[in-house]
Amino acid sequence: MDRIGIAGGVPLKGEIAVTGAKNAALKLMVAALLSDKPLTLENMPDVADVAALKQVLEVLGATVSDDPRRTGRMTLHVPEITSTTAPYDLVRKMRASVLVFGPLLARSGVAKVSLPGGCAIGTRPVDLHIMGLEALGARIDLEDGYLLGEVPGRLKGADITFPMISVGATEHVMMAATLAQGMTVLRQAAQEPEIADLAICLNAMGADIEGAGTATIRINGVESLHGASHHVIPDRIETGTYAMAAAATDGEIELLNTSTEFLGDAVQALEAAGVGIQPSNRGITACRANGRLLAVDITTTPYPGFATDLQAQFMSLMATAEGESHIHENIFENRFMHVPELMRMGADIQVHGGSAIVRGVESLHGAPVMATDLRASVSLVLAGLAAEGETIVNRVYHLDRGYERLVDKLASCGARIERLAG
Ligand code: EPZ
Repeated sequence: MDRIGIAGGVPLKGEIAVTGAKNAALKLMVAALLSDKPLTLENMPDVADVAALKQVLEVLGATVSDDPRRTGRMTLHVPEITSTTAPYDLVRKMRASVLVFGPLLARSGVAKVSLPGGCAIGTRPVDLHIMGLEALGARIDLEDGYLLGEVPGRLKGADITFPMISVGATEHVMMAATLAQGMTVLRQAAQEPEIADLAICLNAMGADIEGAGTATIRINGVESLHGASHHVIPDRIETGTYAMAAAATDGEIELLNTSTEFLGDAVQALEAAGVGIQPSNRGITACRANGRLLAVDITTTPYPGFATDLQAQFMSLMATAEGESHIHENIFENRFMHVPELMRMGADIQVHGGSAIVRGVESLHGAPVMATDLRASVSLVLAGLAAEGETIVNRVYHLDRGYERLVDKLASCGARIERLAG
């Protein structure tokens, strides 16, 4: 298993091109199942999750263009659904592939999709997805770890109030409802920018969706969708991660093709901590505004609140800030796995359930550490960049899932970082 070696303590200076948002890209790929015409996506990130979902879609009948020149363009075409089964071996590699269930039901009337199972950050059930699709008239059973669904006739629009906010359930039911008969209203919907981006793409394909990006989404079902071309929004989590890398190392990085537009409350938290974020001609510039970073309290909540996907990175930053930071994780029950690893690097952190108290220390020191999930892994990279001495981050495959060419991008800003095979 590959590892990353980092010799810390170098202020990062340079520019980094931010890719399209992984968490938008995955759902946009799934949307291709809803039409028999090609969907072209621009600004796609070249990450392992995209490759894993491509495999799932190919099993279902998609042809997906390769992008040997890495232009960020991908064309997906599903002239017909050749299989309505998404098997366990593929779905378990990438949880978001469960989102093919609703579109398969909407287009083919039947679907069999493996339950994705839990993952390191929590149990992550899909009950809200099932509830929403059943409200649209699907009959769903669970058998041998598979979701089995069928639709008598066509899906029917419904008024659905989610009992709790879920990004995936909102996207899943919204996609299925585009081909339902009549009007669907989704209340207490998630408001993440990736949902609005998905709706823009679906509308370009001929869907009739209003309100995506707010808590109430109205979807007027149509008979069929056609082809379209869509540009994926910038990855707000990649943006926030590299902004924190600049601040953690007391450097300055220009982040290209992005903005602070989708960062939500993270912008205020970063500014309060002393991270300077300024718009530039080509994106934004991030640096440490003055002297030592300051401790700031954060609570992760659905968008526009502080994103759970930036919590681990922010904790790394707080590890050397002046003062005591209280970090509350509200979205996933097990998203502090980076804590023991940061402590091995000298951080002073105490965890009580979903809350952590981080007492800033003067500096971290390098150590061998173990990555456990995507964002925990990158928080260890940030810590390693800021630390004195050498850090080895094991299990790099987590990073490959969601960060395109992370080592190259950081090295181009002067980081002494390399990927070690084996
Ligand atoms: C999406 O996951 C993202 N993944 C996650 O990004 C992100 O952390 C999360 O939204 C929250 O912003 C993708 O977009 C592929 P949820 P999702 O449904 O859709 C519970 C990353 O690092 N829940 O909003 O799975 C659930 O267990 C990743 O890029 C139910 O109880 O998140 C969680 O506690 C990781 N029942 C909460 O809701 C359900 O049916 C929010 O989950 C669905 C969810």
